[in-house]
Amino acid sequence: MDKKCVTLDTIANLCKRRGFVNQSSEIYGGFPNVYDYGPLGVLLKNNIKALWIRENVEKRDDMYLIDGAVLMNPKAWEASGHVDSFTDPMIDCTQCKKRFRADQLKGWEMKKDNKTGEWTIVKKGETKCPSCGGELMNDIRVFNLMMETYVGAVKDKQSKAYLKPESCQNIYLDYDWVKDCMRAKMPFGIAQVGKAFRNELTQGQFIFRLREFEQMDVQFFVAPKGADEWYKKWKELRMEWYIKTLGISKENLRWRQHPDEERIFYARDAWDIDYQFPYGWKELEGVHDRSDYDLKQHAKFSGKELTYFDAERGEKFVPYIVETSVGLDRIFLTVMFEFYHEESVKDVNGKEDARVVMKFPVALAPIKAAVLPLMKKPELVKKAKELFSELKKKYGYVMYDEIGSIGKRYRRQDEIGTPKCYTIDFQTLEDGAVTVRDRDSMKQERVKLLEVTRA
Ligand code: GAP
Repeated sequence: MDKKCVTLDTIANLCKRRGFVNQSSEIYGGFPNVYDYGPLGVLLKNNIKALWIRENVEKRDDMYLIDGAVLMNPKAWEASGHVDSFTDPMIDCTQCKKRFRADQLKGWEMKKDNKTGEWTIVKKGETKCPSCGGELMNDIRVFNLMMETYVGAVKDKQSKAYLKPESCQNIYLDYDWVKDCMRAKMPFGIAQVGKAFRNELTQGQFIFRLREFEQMDVQFFVAPKGADEWYKKWKELRMEWYIKTLGISKENLRWRQHPDEERIFYARDAWDIDYQFPYGWKELEGVHDRSDYDLKQHAKFSGKELTYFDAERGEKFVPYIVETSVGLDRIFLTVMFEFYHEESVKDVNGKEDARVVMKFPVALAPIKAAVLPLMKKPELVKKAKELFSELKKKYGYVMYDEIGSIGKRYRRQDEIGTPKCYTIDFQTLEDGAVTVRDRDSMKQERVKLLEVTRA
């Protein structure tokens, strides 16, 4: 099937039907741009996370993993510039009162001062409301995306805090602590998988643009002299991870450099890894050379020196930071699109049938194997349950299914990407072998149980 025909709705429906992802608070009608991960979604998400941690932390000897809090001292967000400049330009409809992002309206061109967060209109486009056709307001309003909360006994200006809009900031605040307690030698990195919150107003993009999401960050601290080289190295490593570890095809990935007007003022260079969704190229991950801006800002606002002393060279400096930052939910969506296949196959009677199959690499597959007794006969069920418990020891997540025809059960496993199905039949009771069915080729072979369960 042509991948271009796969829509966001197709993926969202599959995610809901098969327990991957569903809108949050569904019984109350949902909650915009917020989603829950179900039993299979959690497994897939954890597998992605584990592969990311394995590559970026476990396999390296220069990386430290932290898990920072969502709430931080609000001063940190003044230092980072988010209080002033983490903004979107909004325009309201005079009639239906709906609010839109002005920079996304047809024909509009906007310019942002990345330092102050001010927006100016370069060109006015469509002035009619895309929803009701009414007149749009003449002026734009600048809207801060940070979510506010109050911490403490009194709800006032002093107790105002923010849910972190980007996960990485505690890494900068913990830099000195981690460096000292781990006796870290430059260059080294701090990695984190953490939640981020943004009051995103654009709706209808499923888990691509969320109000609550998870980011996986590496912040790599380097001497200013080595920054260019390390930036190049991290760009290579990150692209390689998508292709070699996640198995995403090269043709669906590209690099895109931020032009001057898009690049944040302190970044020396900024590139995104984009993925080709059926509806166009979209940002997957940012790999940014952030200069020494972050540590300098936090040093200035906190009054604490955030430097590194290179004893061998007798030099003290503020480290530069190479950042790689990706949304875990966005990788989730990417792998759903990448491995989704619709195929036309023949059923047992030779009739054309359609099957949906998620061709996940084994490391990503939420369920590693399924055990299916051919019929619900006690002797088959007993044998199947024995195999099920052995395979659970071997693979962890394994499914047992005895409901419906064997063909239907295979299709159910195809749809959630289970690589192997093991069918127990009457012959198994005689020859101690099972039918092993491969998800991708649909080929079946008889294999001895001893071989199947061997560690
Ligand atoms: N610390 C850098 C940073 O936060 P960003 O480009 O705003 O940079 C990094 O975010 C990544 O986080 C993006 O490339 C994207 O994968 C993910 N991301 C950003 N906003 C998101 C949202 N509203 N929903 C889901 N993922 C998001």
